[in-house]
Amino acid sequence: MAIGYLNGQVINSDDPVLPIDERGHQFGDGVYEYIRVYGGRPFMMKEHLDRFFRSAEAIKLNLDQSREDIEAITKDLIERSGLADCDIYMQATRGIAPRNHLFPNVPASISMTVKPFRMMDETLREEGAGIKLMPDERWQNCWIKTLNLLPNLLAKQEAFEAGAFEAVLVRDNVVTEGSSSNLFLVKDGKLITPPATKHILHGITRMAVIDIAAELDIPVEEKAFSPDAVFEADEVFLTSTGIEIVPVTSVDRQTISDGKPGEITKKIYEAFMKRV
Ligand SMILES: Cc1ncc(COP(=O)(O)O)c(C=O)c1O
Repeated sequence: MAIGYLNGQVINSDDPVLPIDERGHQFGDGVYEYIRVYGGRPFMMKEHLDRFFRSAEAIKLNLDQSREDIEAITKDLIERSGLADCDIYMQATRGIAPRNHLFPNVPASISMTVKPFRMMDETLREEGAGIKLMPDERWQNCWIKTLNLLPNLLAKQEAFEAGAFEAVLVRDNVVTEGSSSNLFLVKDGKLITPPATKHILHGITRMAVIDIAAELDIPVEEKAFSPDAVFEADEVFLTSTGIEIVPVTSVDRQTISDGKPGEITKKIYEAFMKRV
């Protein structure tokens, strides 16, 4: 059963509960996390909570709840949902107060939803996805997982309308990340991914892939690269909590390598599935 949570209360996830003056709604003044639960167990919960608290601190948002509180709420919600495999979204916002750019002196709000997995079209995993390169028009602090996703949404929508699965963003001729994913290239048996600077979200799946690569003795280089490197890669793949690992077989409608999902990508995906 899909359920929701708002400031201490368990609710139906589609209940109309947010007051107009909620700052997440008015200003996007908040941060969020998306965690996947496999077989009743949240995957890399510690890393997700680290990022949640890091993001909150970065926007000067003080949460009343401790990590342990959030973990306990999450565990309770998973149990109540009765779902073994589910998606958890958690949001922390600067609370409910009359509209004013200045910070209000009110408690932060915490909301969550627990819902069945949002399933991806699995043919993408078998056949590979297309990506569209687009200008990265976001702000400078993309490492903070804020609720402000408008440039990401606009890019994803434009990529979708052009027949691509994901928009991959480019800032000053450097590839940063997808609109909701991180990007990896494989070149000469080595993984290459943009470094974890402030211009990308430090993806938890990205972190898992780097760890898996070490386990499989596949070298990883975290270094900046231009769009040309994507066209010239042997393999390309995207990572995120929701899509896990998805091979990319075309960029701007141009085929990458032989146009099939690569062997190293498959190996990493299999190892990832073993972990989850
Ligand atoms: C902009 C952006 N980059 C990367 C990711 C992947 O992060 P994670 O693997 O933690 O889901 C996401 C996930 O939503 C994202 O929104």
